[in-house]
Amino acid sequence: MVKLKQKTQKSITINNSNHAKYYFYNMTDVLVIGSGIAGLSFALKTAAQFPDKKILILTKANEDESNTKYAQGGIAVVTDFEKDNFEKHISDTLIAGDGLCNQDIVDIVIREGRLRVDELISWGTNFDKEAEGDYKLGREGGHSEHRVLHYKDITGWEIERALLAKVHETPNIEISQHHFVIDLLTQHHLGRIITRVTSDIQCYGAYVLNLKTHQIEKLESKIVVLATGGFGQVYRATTNPSIATGDGIAMVYRAKGRVANLEFVQFHPTALYEPGVSPNFLITEAVRGDGAILRTKDGSDLMANYDKRGSLAPRDIVARAIDNEMKKSGDDHMYLDCRHMDRDNFIHHFPNIYEKCKSIGIDVFKDMIPVVPAAHYACGGINVDEYGRTSIKNLYACGECSNTGLHGANRLASNSLLEAVVFSHRIFLDVRDRLDSIQFPEQKFPEWNADGTSDPKEMVIITQSIKELKDIMSSYVGIVRNNGRLKRAQERLYLLFKETEELYETTTISPQLLELRNMITIGYLITRSAMLRKESRGLHYTTDYPEHASVAEQTML
Ligand code: FAD
Ligand code: SIN
Repeated sequence: MVKLKQKTQKSITINNSNHAKYYFYNMTDVLVIGSGIAGLSFALKTAAQFPDKKILILTKANEDESNTKYAQGGIAVVTDFEKDNFEKHISDTLIAGDGLCNQDIVDIVIREGRLRVDELISWGTNFDKEAEGDYKLGREGGHSEHRVLHYKDITGWEIERALLAKVHETPNIEISQHHFVIDLLTQHHLGRIITRVTSDIQCYGAYVLNLKTHQIEKLESKIVVLATGGFGQVYRATTNPSIATGDGIAMVYRAKGRVANLEFVQFHPTALYEPGVSPNFLITEAVRGDGAILRTKDGSDLMANYDKRGSLAPRDIVARAIDNEMKKSGDDHMYLDCRHMDRDNFIHHFPNIYEKCKSIGIDVFKDMIPVVPAAHYACGGINVDEYGRTSIKNLYACGECSNTGLHGANRLASNSLLEAVVFSHRIFLDVRDRLDSIQFPEQKFPEWNADGTSDPKEMVIITQSIKELKDIMSSYVGIVRNNGRLKRAQERLYLLFKETEELYETTTISPQLLELRNMITIGYLITRSAMLRKESRGLHYTTDYPEHASVAEQTML
């Protein structure tokens, strides 16, 4: 069996001469990694509770660059209690999750979600309303009712705008953009050997690459919250922006923390087919919620033979159906037909999609939109409990990088923004009760050691490896899997891993190299988890085990 070697950072010698190098390095009470909905909403609450403490947010790109910014459909939450209720939303979530959701967590998220959405609104987020003042409710695949609050087709942009504006008004929150977190500080960096069964692993902060100065800084913190988002970038076709490389999940795995359910990668059925363009522009499922129909090249209703819910069946079913039709016909895309839809309503609800299609010569009222499935959402991630606590002490995780138990084997559309705000609040509650009792460590952590490294001779080695990684994952660990493909992926990934570790040992750290390293770890974790699951369930479909196993269990690594 091929096993990836784990290595937390470059070798560190802890001896007297190294001790002489210590100085009073950066410290903060609360370190948040990531400036999407999860990180920002946590920071706002914690800053209000502790006006005398500093909350530092690190983010590797511009502060607004995140999956959050691109969310289109909206946030699923029950607001119309005449037609809808919590039980229906809970039931829809459990059905989508295909037997693997944690029912207590589903209950928590759906019921508490309403209050958290009210907070988003109180912080300045706008959602579309009807003329009479009620919220306009969209509908997406797997939802039995209209319940998705949205702001046109740019809901995520609006949420990110409002949260950042509020953060900028909050004096004790500092955002450091272009700071790439490399690894978490744990006892490992004090020379202690830790393994995945060590029970007292603790997080003390992080090593961070400042992309402006190119220096690697050591940052100590009493509490660290990972809100680093997903990893769509490990696939060739993805709706995720370039930041989505799974860094937080890879860091936790390297620090010997627990990650779970990584085989459940959600492919969105309708990303715009635009060869050579990355990431793929999303055509929100809400378009199908408003009546658009998926068609094959000859104009037939694509879903007619697959599911009685037609084009609005849950995503796993629709993405598999499209994948199957593409394989059968040899076509490289299918179509979404909006030609029959009301022009004014369409342009009002989906102005961004309308303009994007127009910009590439597609008139959605005359032409069908070419679409392909694209990697979209990580249902698994860093394993957390009901207060977002990871298996590593003083380390929390929320948002897409976490595995809370809400999504199980398949996420219900528009449940992720909701999960992020419910869990950032729950982490806040736990931190509120603990922060004053946590001390900075007495031990001195070593500075980053870059001895023996030099600038890479050619960046092409890294960019080519990233391409190879995407090819391996897309060809062998995509929508339909089997034992042979997974084994091949594992072998190819191991070669890439060995080459990249060698590069990591010998060359100067760059963000591209760090992302490659993280994405190889993610590729390994997805593949390994998929190999361990000897059944088909939710988003994991393998032709070798097409049925459910008798017992539904999480895959924990
Ligand atoms: P993100 O918003 O992705 O933020 C991650 C942050 O971490 C970024 O700031 C990033 O720079 C930072 N980061 C990552 N690694 C590092 C590092 N090493 N060092 C420093 N910083 C780092 N969900 C819904 O519920 N409804 C929708 O309508 C919807 N539509 C979507 C449409 C698209 C196109 C996409 C891509 C996703 C959509 N989703 C939707 C999913 C949802 O947007 C995400 O799951 C959610 O926004 C994730 O939020 P987050 O805060 O966890 O992470
Ligand atoms: C979409 O708008 O189709 C995406 C919604 C989601 O991923 O939750």
